[in-house]
Amino acid sequence: MIDVNSSIGVFDSGIGGLTVLRQLIRFMPDEHYIYLGDTARVPYGNKSQSIVRTYAEQFTRFLIAKNVKLIVVACNTVSSVALDTVRNIAGDIEVIGMIEHTSYAALRTTLNNKIGIIGTRATINSNAYMEGIKSIPGGENMKIISQACPLFVPIVEEGLINHQIAYLAAQEYLSNLISENVDTIVLGCTHYPLLSRVISEIVPGATLIDCGEHSSVAALRILAEKNLLRKQSASINQKPEIEFYVTDIPSIFYEQAQRFLGFPIDTPKTIDFKDLV
Ligand code: DGL
Repeated sequence: MIDVNSSIGVFDSGIGGLTVLRQLIRFMPDEHYIYLGDTARVPYGNKSQSIVRTYAEQFTRFLIAKNVKLIVVACNTVSSVALDTVRNIAGDIEVIGMIEHTSYAALRTTLNNKIGIIGTRATINSNAYMEGIKSIPGGENMKIISQACPLFVPIVEEGLINHQIAYLAAQEYLSNLISENVDTIVLGCTHYPLLSRVISEIVPGATLIDCGEHSSVAALRILAEKNLLRKQSASINQKPEIEFYVTDIPSIFYEQAQRFLGFPIDTPKTIDFKDLV
């Protein structure tokens, strides 16, 4: 039974989805969250569609067993190649991916009808954002320039967001977007909001669209429509309620998690792969 007090399940290939969780908490601070990060098998961005689908199936089943009221696929790669898989398994439970609401936001933002999409190789090769935008009325007139930026994820994970290496990579990857004069850039990967400053310096005229922000607003709206939002808590300073699960705890896990989430994380539970079906 879907219950107002059930948790919101959030999953990602690793810790990148914490940028999405951060936005979810911003819009829905009174909810209880279950965050699941596949830290043992990250990154997904260079993997094949079929293996990403298998991982997505396992995590969806895990969250359903936790009786969640909503599943947020807080990974652009999974949202691009396996959202239908997640939805099929989730049945009546609402599923929010990163593509749909972010595509709407990009379309509403552009003034010159030129939109840049950046993401992992898997996300860009899937054309999910391009198709997402083109399928919205008015979207067929958009000029879309897509660019995979595979070095951005390791740069962010190594904490090099203000290092020269980030600027060099951004110059290299974003040169097409600049020459095509895009005025809107979809940050189509969980890690990229942490590179916003660098990207804005390299493409100063462009508005950046954060997938976590727009998907979180959609999550809020859907839960409100279904009367599934928890009651507002009495204390405004209450710590967000999050239960963390990961498949491994790498040595720099806590440092990275804090960077992505904005506050320190409690000790996560480690999932044994034997428990994933
Ligand atoms: N979370 C992934 C995404 O948003 C980036 C990291 C990865 O490649 O797994 O596409």
